[in-house]
Formats: sequence, C-alpha cells, structure tokens
Amino acid sequence: MHAPGTVMLEARGIGKSFGPVRALSGVDLQLRAGEVTAIMGENGAGKSTLLKILTGDYQPDAGTLELAGTEVHFTDPRHSRIAGLRVIAQEPEVIAHVSVAENIYVGALRGPLFDKRAVYAKTRADLAKYGFERLIRPEALGSTLSPAQRQIVEIMRALVDEPAVICFDEPTSSLGEDESGILFALIQRLRDEGVAIGYVSHRMQEIFQLADRITVLRDGALVGTKLTAETDHDELVRMMVGRDLTQFFHREPVTPGETVLELRDVGNEHVSGVDLTVRAGEVVGIAGLVGAGRSELMKTIVGDFPITSGEILVSGRRTSFRSPGDAIAAGIGFAPEERKAEALVLQRPVRDNITLAVLKELSRWIFVRAGAERALTADYISRLRIRTPSSEQLVGKLSGGNQQKVVLARWLATRPKLLVLDEPTRGVDVGAKAEIYAIIDELAHAGVAVLVVSSELPEVLGLADRINVMAGGRIVGELSRAEATEEAILALAMDESRIS
Ligand SMILES: Nc1ncnc2c1ncn2[C@@H]1O[C@H](COP(=O)(O)OP(=O)(O)OP(=O)(O)O)[C@@H](O)[C@H]1O
Ligand SMILES: [Mg+2]
Repeated sequence: MHAPGTVMLEARGIGKSFGPVRALSGVDLQLRAGEVTAIMGENGAGKSTLLKILTGDYQPDAGTLELAGTEVHFTDPRHSRIAGLRVIAQEPEVIAHVSVAENIYVGALRGPLFDKRAVYAKTRADLAKYGFERLIRPEALGSTLSPAQRQIVEIMRALVDEPAVICFDEPTSSLGEDESGILFALIQRLRDEGVAIGYVSHRMQEIFQLADRITVLRDGALVGTKLTAETDHDELVRMMVGRDLTQFFHREPVTPGETVLELRDVGNEHVSGVDLTVRAGEVVGIAGLVGAGRSELMKTIVGDFPITSGEILVSGRRTSFRSPGDAIAAGIGFAPEERKAEALVLQRPVRDNITLAVLKELSRWIFVRAGAERALTADYISRLRIRTPSSEQLVGKLSGGNQQKVVLARWLATRPKLLVLDEPTRGVDVGAKAEIYAIIDELAHAGVAVLVVSSELPEVLGLADRINVMAGGRIVGELSRAEATEEAILALAMDESRIS
C-alpha cells in the first residue's frame, strides 16, 4: 500500500465530446491513497463521463492519465481493472437469470469446474466480510433484486478484486438510510486501508461526512478542488450551480379538499392491512427503510400488483386497475423508482418522453398540436434545467439525473388528480431539486393529491403534510407535520423492522 496522501490517480486536461455535445474540457482530477475525493456537479456536468474515461470505457479526446505515477492508456475496462482501478457504475447491470454469487464472480468462475455450493459459500463469506450479509442472499436471482441489492452486487464485484483506486458513481441514490450507513462504514474502512477513493454524489450531507477533498465540475469544466474542512454548503452550491440557492424548501399547506385516494385494509403478497387516504391539495409522504414495502405499495395502488384483500377507492369509486395503464387512464400519474426499466422510452427524443402522457390534451382530433407540444417541452427543459442539446435528443443519451428529470416532467405536466411519485429526486442535482419541490407544491395548490415516497428524510419532511411510516409491508405509524422529525421517523421505521 502507498503512503496516505500519495497521488494514485492523476488525470490532466481531460476532454471529451459526443458529437456536438462537449461533455468535458480541460478537467484535472487527483485521487490520493487513504483519502476520499468527492466529485460534484449538476446533472450533466460530466461526472460519469470522467469516471468512464478513467476506466477506459470511453476514450478521451484530450489529456493524460497516470496511475501510481505511470502514464496509462486504457482502451478496455478490463485493462484498468487489472491495473487496480474500479468504478462502481451509476446504473449497475445485473444478469437477470443467474444468482447473486454468479453475478459477483461473473467471468471469474466459468466452465466445468464451476461448483455452485463453493461459490455460494465464498460469496456468503465475502458479503459478511464487507458487512452486507443481512441485505442479500448469494442464491437470489438477479431478476429478483431491488435497486439497492443490485448496487451491492456491483460494489461486491469491485471489492473482490481489492483495487487500489475505487470510484463510486452515486452509490446511495438507490440505498436507504441503513444501507447507506453500511456503505459509509465500508468506504471509511477502505480509506483507512489506504485505498484511493473517488465519490460522486448529489447529497451534501454525505459529502461532508465522507470526503477529504471536493472537486467541482460545471458544464464539463473544472471549477476547482477544495479541502472539505475549508469549504461549506453554500460555497459548494455556488461552485456547482453558479448562483446562490434559497434554503431548504418548506411548503405552505393548503386546506385539503375531497378524498382522492383511499385504501381500506389493502393486502397482497407485498403489503398488508394498509389504510391510507390522500385528499386533494395534500402531499402525503411515505417513509421507511429499503425493503419496507414502499415501492410495492405504490405499485399496488397503480395496479402493477393485484390486491388480495381490502379495497382501493379513487374519488370514492372502487378501482380495479390491472396495470398502470388502467391507472393512467383513470387520471393517475405515476413516476416509478426505476426510471430506466419502467418509465422512459430511451430510444425516443426528450420531447416525446415529456409529452407522452399529455398527448390527448395536446391533440385536436388526432393531430398533436405541435406548437403546444414544443412550448410545454421547452418550459420543462428550462425549469428543471434538463441538460440536453435539444428537445430532439434521445433520452438514452442524457446523463442519469437528466433522464430522471424527463420522467418527472412528464407527470408534472399532466396535472393528474392523483400523482404518485416514487423517489422523485433520486439522482437529481441540488438546483433542480428545489424546482421539483416548487412544482409539487404548485400542483398541490391546484388541487392535485400527491403521494411521495422518499428515502431522503429532509425531502419528506420539507414536502409532506403528513408522513406515513412503513415497515415490513405495513404502515406502522403516521406523523403530522408538527410531530415529524428525522428521529421520530427512524424510530418508527427501525423499531418495527426489528419485530417483523
Ligand atoms: N453516449 C453519449 N452520447 C451523447 N451524449 C452523452 C453521452 N454520454 C453523456 N453524454 C452527455 O454528456 C454530458 C455529461 O454527462 P454525464 O453522464 O457525464 O453527466 P453527470 O455529471 O454524470 O450527470 P448526472 O448527475 O445526471 O449523472 C451530458 O450532457 C450528457 O447528455
Ligand atoms: Mg452521472
């Protein structure tokens, strides 16, 4: 191992364009042994592109890379891996039809000598070594994994190589509080062992907890690198966004109207005994740890999972949605947690993705009013600061956070009577978050009933009029805005998860 502070990875003057899009220009980065260097910047600032250049996934147009003092040119991620550099991807790829164990050791153990039992045992030991043993089973199939579990698979794949340099690209965007805690302990341990760590995140709290240094990018250029001890929240926001932002959002509650959504003793294989109401003009938050059943409850409401007991009423009428399509037709908007798999049409332009759900409104007879469609798209691109060369860009080519903004824009644009948002700001930068909160508030004031799931407690606390806490597929408590604190929510969420 190298002495703490030794520069293990040095990138100088990195440039990269995708056709007309200039993703990076003149970027320098140093990652030091025994230190965590955070890489921050708005959605589309170039963070993931920079990491993909380090691994050799992308070839830079300009600049040089040195690993432990030696210049390197990786043309294939396998080469950087052998050289001791790993990046935990923002959107981990997991093979659906094989087990966790095989996913972790993919490539390493193939052929006739493959001994499943031995691999499971090794995986179990490795999971325990890094503190993940409670969260995932070696035998579980890739297709059954939650986003958090897929993230763990991706992290384990890297750790089993014992790299000297390891970068995390928004690792906590799909993790809850408790998994994040395990991950932070792990990162601190790796740092103490002398690993050089790069860490991309939009969450300030984490940055201040973990990072020794912070490198900020804006519009593909380096703004600067600061020692964490010598900077603060406001300065970082200014460096990232280029302007000041007002303090954390707190919405003004409105007097709620009629009950829009009502669940009476709803149960199925994922949730049980759920009673819940959301009235027009109300924002109801759902909090809980990962695995508490929050996303499953949202999917149950929109008809993805059938109910086996109880009933769901929308505007007083009993529903029998058999798919989210039925729910949408009944005036419900649903932005799911897994934007890639469930929500976006990656091969279509930004414009189509935003207007998909409002086409009926924008259509006269069967013709879409092109002017109205353009105006709506332009409005959301600018309000949510969606970084795209034009409204015609394919969504698949946008950065992760910008894809998320497109999904949200689609549902915010529909003004449904009920809007169900699962982790609405997951992976979204600090400037756009504030705008998303303002739009949710606006919709509530216009009489929309909103149901929000979020793992970010400050977000639920700032947005929700009431907070329901889930654990083990049940609602274990409700907190009014006045009663709700991070401690109160966690106490409910953890207490119940221990019992079940
Ligand atoms: N394969 C590609 N083709 C075209 N443009 C791309 C491609 N990959 C990235 N870009 C563009 O390069 C810019 C930087 O993207 P990148 O993914 O590095 O951003 P990021 O900082 O990681 O953002 P986020 O916080 O949203 O993850 C964006 O404008 C993005 O749309
Ligand atoms: Mg990214």
